[in-house]
Amino acid sequence: MADSSSNSLCKPIHIAFAIAFALLISSPIGSYGFTAQNVINSPLLTKKIATNRTIKVDINGNGEFTSIQAAVDAVPEGNSQWMIIHVRKGIYREKVHVPSSKPYVFLRGNGKGRTHIVWSQSSNDNIESATFKVEAKHFIAFGISFKNEAPTGVAYTSQNQSVAAFVAADNVAFYHCGFYSTHNTLFDYKGRHYYDGCYIQGSIDFIFGRGKSVFHNCEIFVIDDKRLTVRGSVTAQNRKSADENSGFVFIRGKVYGIGGVYLGRAKGAFSRVVFAKTYFSMTVLPAGWTNWSYAGGTENLYHSEYDCHGPGAEKGNRAPWAKQLTEKEAAQFMDISFIEGADWLPAWL
Ligand SMILES: *[C@@H]1O[C@H](CO)[C@@H](O)[C@H](O)[C@H]1NC(C)=O
Ligand SMILES: *[C@@H]1O[C@H](CO)[C@@H](O)[C@H](O)[C@H]1NC(C)=O
Ligand SMILES: *[C@@H]1O[C@H](CO)[C@@H](O)[C@H](O)[C@H]1NC(C)=O
Repeated sequence: MADSSSNSLCKPIHIAFAIAFALLISSPIGSYGFTAQNVINSPLLTKKIATNRTIKVDINGNGEFTSIQAAVDAVPEGNSQWMIIHVRKGIYREKVHVPSSKPYVFLRGNGKGRTHIVWSQSSNDNIESATFKVEAKHFIAFGISFKNEAPTGVAYTSQNQSVAAFVAADNVAFYHCGFYSTHNTLFDYKGRHYYDGCYIQGSIDFIFGRGKSVFHNCEIFVIDDKRLTVRGSVTAQNRKSADENSGFVFIRGKVYGIGGVYLGRAKGAFSRVVFAKTYFSMTVLPAGWTNWSYAGGTENLYHSEYDCHGPGAEKGNRAPWAKQLTEKEAAQFMDISFIEGADWLPAWL
């Protein structure tokens, strides 16, 4: 009796799920009409980029190359049409450099938990240590993890840095990628960039440079550094003057992890960082921002938050120069117009 009644209850539930699923898959996904629950995936980017030029890389030998760098080398100098370098799952232990002479590369992985580019090097020269370097305009990556496995952050070791990715060109976007290291993970050096749905891990200054970048819905994971007693910072943005058009903008996403962290430290006198609608766990220290090892005045720092939430978002003990933006002040940072993304991004949220 109990069995038959539960069986008869199951049917309408199945039907309801089938209808919900059918609605879900039939809902239109246009290029501009994204809503919060949509995801920019590999088929969508591939469709937008619309090229018939693809090079396959497979570490097991079922592609044209087993090395990603060999595939980049095969892209013609002065390339002017999109080239897809499809990297099948695997751990590729190599440094990869996309030089400025090879624009329009779409480096397409099989997911950030499946396609990894890994190297292990620490140096007192950030660029030297980088696992991945892009200096070409119009570069897109999807579904790849970039890792620097050098054992920085270990107690009583050197102060060396270990960069996972060096991003040094205009019009560069990463979708659903991972950046793994400790000290100085992501060197966002220069140009306009978009990071969507990325995972970025580190301890000290782990997103740094003078790029003009939007981080949309990214997961910032803080790890403890065992060398130092001072706390690290998520960002060390290095804007140097009022007319320099750089800055890091974080929209939605979250900051959490192990140990305590500042959202940013003053690196340049005009350092500009905005966290908007972001979740902060207790990992974010009450002061929020720091002027550690910075000699200048704090009056030109643009260390700001807008409508953030979570236990680390308490405003009461923030550094005296930290700004809480009004909706009007925040408006210029709240979408891809900050990086003129409509002119060059294949897709955005
Ligand atoms: C690739 O596309 C270009 C431009 O649409 C076309 O001219 C070319 O014939 C295509 N090549 C192949 C191999 O399909
Ligand atoms: C630190 O970097 C220097 C080069 O800048 C290198 O010679 C040295 O081996 C590195 N130390 C460690 C522990 O990796
Ligand atoms: C640096 O920050 C501390 C703590 O907020 C503050 O007391 C100090 O005045 C700041 N230094 C400068 C140069 O503004």
